[in-house]
Amino acid sequence: MVPAAGIGARMGAGLPKQYLPLNGRTVLEHSLWRLAACPGIAGIAVALAAQDAHWPQLALPPDVAVHTTTGGAQRCHSVLNGLHALAGLAQDEEWVLVHDAARPCVRVADIRNLMTYLADHPVGGLLGVPVNDTVKRADSAATIIETVDRHGLWRALTPQMFRYAALRCALQDSIKAGVTVTDEASAMEWAGHAPRLVEGQGDNIKITRPEDLPLAAYFLQQQQSE
Ligand code: CTP
Ligand code: MG
Repeated sequence: MVPAAGIGARMGAGLPKQYLPLNGRTVLEHSLWRLAACPGIAGIAVALAAQDAHWPQLALPPDVAVHTTTGGAQRCHSVLNGLHALAGLAQDEEWVLVHDAARPCVRVADIRNLMTYLADHPVGGLLGVPVNDTVKRADSAATIIETVDRHGLWRALTPQMFRYAALRCALQDSIKAGVTVTDEASAMEWAGHAPRLVEGQGDNIKITRPEDLPLAAYFLQQQQSE
């Protein structure tokens, strides 16, 4: 499931960031082709903004069924809509991977690792990277309150992989309860599950601000020459 219904406000480009050109393809095309290159992906559901005029121009991966649905107000609503679009296609116990459209540099090897490590896990989990920097907590005036022990701290990436029905329920219930969840793992944690982190590569960045685009272009080039 690929949420691609955001407007990219922080990017501030003329069009949503998932449609910006990156090394000869759009950001979203990179993301979709990488998912499609993973054995075991039966289909992809993409959540799009209601007035999206760019989607029909994309070159879609040929070997995987791609379904589209309309996104919602926040990422979690878009993901939930995408999960609903898979009703009848995915079984309750089957795995669903959720991957940000804005992460075009995800490595196929990392997605495969995630799927392999968690194949027998009762809950599922996500790609993550341990935090390297010293971490500070500050007040609203940027004055440090404390240095946070970074031991055991990770940055959460995508894909995040959970069982279809459990994820659908966790998202539905957390939204209903008014809890803000910014990733699938938070919804699962809120529902009382304990997801597992699988270490991925730090070049799996989420394109967020203008300076991220040249960085992503560089990472894609580097990956090609590996
Ligand atoms: N997304 C979505 N539906 C929303 C908001 C976000 O499907 N209502 C998607 C985005 O398209 C992106 C992913 O969720 O692929 C991660 O969100 P983010 O990086 O925050 O993208 P935007 O919301 O588009 O960016 P911004 O917050 O800067 O506006
Ligand atoms: Mg956003």
